[in-house]
Amino acid sequence: MMSQASPPLNSEETNRGMSYAPRSDETILTDPKRQPITVTKRERSMIKAQRPAVIWLTGLSGAGKSTIGNLAERKLLARGAHTILLDGDSLRSGLNEDLGFTSLDRRENIRRVGEVAKLMTEAGLIVICALISPFRAERLVVRRLFEPGDFIEVFVDTPLEACVERDPKGLYKRALARQIENFTGLHQPYEPPERPELILRTLDGSPDQMADRLIEIVQPFVSSF
Ligand SMILES: Nc1ncnc2c1ncn2[C@@H]1O[C@H](COP(=O)(O)OP(=O)(O)O)[C@@H](O)[C@H]1O
Ligand SMILES: [Mg+2]
Repeated sequence: MMSQASPPLNSEETNRGMSYAPRSDETILTDPKRQPITVTKRERSMIKAQRPAVIWLTGLSGAGKSTIGNLAERKLLARGAHTILLDGDSLRSGLNEDLGFTSLDRRENIRRVGEVAKLMTEAGLIVICALISPFRAERLVVRRLFEPGDFIEVFVDTPLEACVERDPKGLYKRALARQIENFTGLHQPYEPPERPELILRTLDGSPDQMADRLIEIVQPFVSSF
């Protein structure tokens, strides 16, 4: 079958303001104000019978953020919740591929993931973020993007020695051999949350038990629970 080329744009089409045509109206390009929206976050989430929220898992590398985040998402899906898992490591190969691990880059990494989480809550979703996010101040910046109660900070609390022992990706081994710089917990500080909504002490239970404790806190957000 022959593929059809799209017809060339004529001036009439561009004047109708088709989205792919250049806009002649300067104000649209220069006005930094947000565009008004007619459909609200509340309306979008109502069709999912859930209240949008952000579950922010913070902790050292190897603490168990990705493991618990994945299990929790699976359990929430089984209860009819519409979720998305934003995993720091995965985002570093896409959205954040230009960022490294200096303090400045980590800050920008957290800022971007916070903004994406915000957009996804606007879409009505329950967002699970799994991100070392070592600095208190940056986590606070993200918390402030959300309405009180909608940002749930979860400290995945695993002592450094246990993380080094687990070393699921062999990163501690490489960092201790100085093949990796700026490693949180070794060369850079990790600032534990002072008043997280939940603390998961992973030495006190299995990943499955940790995920169960996590979804308990999400229960009020999902009607079908
Ligand atoms: N109770 C627990 N909770 C979470 N992970 C655990 C637990 N006990 C052992 N682990 C193991 O610890 C490792 C955590 O790795 P990962 O989830 O990738 O950490 P992070 O995403 O925080 O860097 C996994 O290999 C997991 O199987
Ligand atoms: Mg991870």
